[in-house]
Amino acid sequence: MISQRKNFTFVFASAFLTLLVSGFSGNLPIVPFDEGYSHLFGDGNLMVLRDGKSAHITLDERTGSGFVSQDLYLHGYFSASIKLPADYTAGVVVAFYMSNADTYEKNHDEIDFEFLGNIRGKDWRIQTNIYGNGSTNTGREERYGLWFDPSEDFHQYSILWTENMIVFYVDNVPIREVKKTEAMGGDFPSKPMSLYATIWDGSDWATNGGKYRVNYKYAPYIAEFSDFVLHGCAVDPTEPSECDTLPKLPTISNQQRTKMAGFRNKHMQYSYCYDRARYKTPLSECVINSKEAERLRGFNPVVFGGARRHKRHHRVRPVRAGASSL
Ligand SMILES: *[C@@H]1O[C@H](CO)[C@@H](O)[C@H](O)[C@H]1NC(C)=O
Repeated sequence: MISQRKNFTFVFASAFLTLLVSGFSGNLPIVPFDEGYSHLFGDGNLMVLRDGKSAHITLDERTGSGFVSQDLYLHGYFSASIKLPADYTAGVVVAFYMSNADTYEKNHDEIDFEFLGNIRGKDWRIQTNIYGNGSTNTGREERYGLWFDPSEDFHQYSILWTENMIVFYVDNVPIREVKKTEAMGGDFPSKPMSLYATIWDGSDWATNGGKYRVNYKYAPYIAEFSDFVLHGCAVDPTEPSECDTLPKLPTISNQQRTKMAGFRNKHMQYSYCYDRARYKTPLSECVINSKEAERLRGFNPVVFGGARRHKRHHRVRPVRAGASSL
């Protein structure tokens, strides 16, 4: 009897927690495409659907495409549901990210979700990265597999950015938390940024001398976006301190922290913190865990890199020397 009641309490409590966890983004307003975003590049390859809430961005032999938020934001919670192109997608890169490279050419900030098409018929992988104040020589990439096929259905990808931390979420599971540390200094993004979504040919960017190039026999590649959340403080970039209406932002519960640890333990495949070919000594914010180091040794340390330019070419710098072959 007692154990039954305990059990009931437990079930009830965990259901309640789940509600709390998934509740935050569930309550946020979905912004129609035309209210939040504008066309960026790729003319007809950006298509806004009739429901007004969804958009398709396409890569074909002519061009990739993309869209950009109408506002710049200083901090907030930003989200989109994304369905990636299926089948053979080597060399295709889909990105959902924040940047201010247009406003601050020399010292821009960036927060990236990057989806790397499947090389060798494998699954899509996601990469996350940040740059701050032009720190493009210091990549902080992490790469992960997913627990689902992201080309089969829509999944929610979110960025939480506050003064002190950045959290990347997949379907409300936090997958990475970047805490601002003193030593990071300007490397932590601190200036207003726009949101971007792009699809482009990453044949050269996606490292390895273009070994896995986009094969246009399988084009068009279509990435579908929906359910836009732009829950941030829109600011005038010339007066970034003008933000006095910062909305309520989520915090990470202990339960979510456990989930994050579980995800990282199982799905992380690369972290700059363990890449001794790039950083002889780990960057100051890295917390080294020998078990994790051991596990990650089993994966290929190939680096996909470079801050992006989203005008026409998305590649700013050549492929990093020292990245090993696939
Ligand atoms: C950012 O970069 C600019 C110019 O390179 C520099 O003057 C400034 O001190 C940097 N800010 C931080 C917070 O590091």
